[in-house]
Amino acid sequence: MSVKALYPGSFDPPTNGHVDLIQRGSRIFGHLTVAILNNPGKNPLFTVEERVEMLLECTRTLENVSIATFDGLMVDFARQQGCTAVLRGIRAISDYEYEFQMALMNRRLAPEIETVFLQPAGRYSFVSSRLLKEVFAFGGDLTGLIPPNVYKRLRDRMNNSC
Ligand code: PNS
Repeated sequence: MSVKALYPGSFDPPTNGHVDLIQRGSRIFGHLTVAILNNPGKNPLFTVEERVEMLLECTRTLENVSIATFDGLMVDFARQQGCTAVLRGIRAISDYEYEFQMALMNRRLAPEIETVFLQPAGRYSFVSSRLLKEVFAFGGDLTGLIPPNVYKRLRDRMNNSC
């Protein structure tokens, strides 16, 4: 049976950890939709359109992966897309509590949808979008932690704001 899965998140910006998880998910599921939450209230660094473009660039070679945006309840969007699984990454035990709560709340809202947790490669276990933005803002090197196209956009953003 081919399972359609949704990989929801903020992806502000996408990291190598996200791309690693997308690659793993694309090998397990028949189709994987990467779903970017459109939440201007979070004051994102990149617009949702920019995040779509970056993720399209990162997943060009993966035929069963598509990129979408959503607002409102994630499980409503998953249903709308015909997804029966939700993919989330767990980097460390510290992620687990929040993810466990979300998974159980989502199960209450949509019992037919299963949350599946995957671990990104160990070399990305400390990587988060928030931390990368902070390190970048203070001039730290992000080589190997962030896709080259995303790194370029970060640099362009910095140069344009100077
Ligand atoms: O990358 P993030 O920010 O950790 O992703 C969190 C996300 C987008 C998956 C979560 O906030 C979400 O699903 N938001 C949509 C609204 C919703 O369904 N909330 C109930 C979660 S139990």
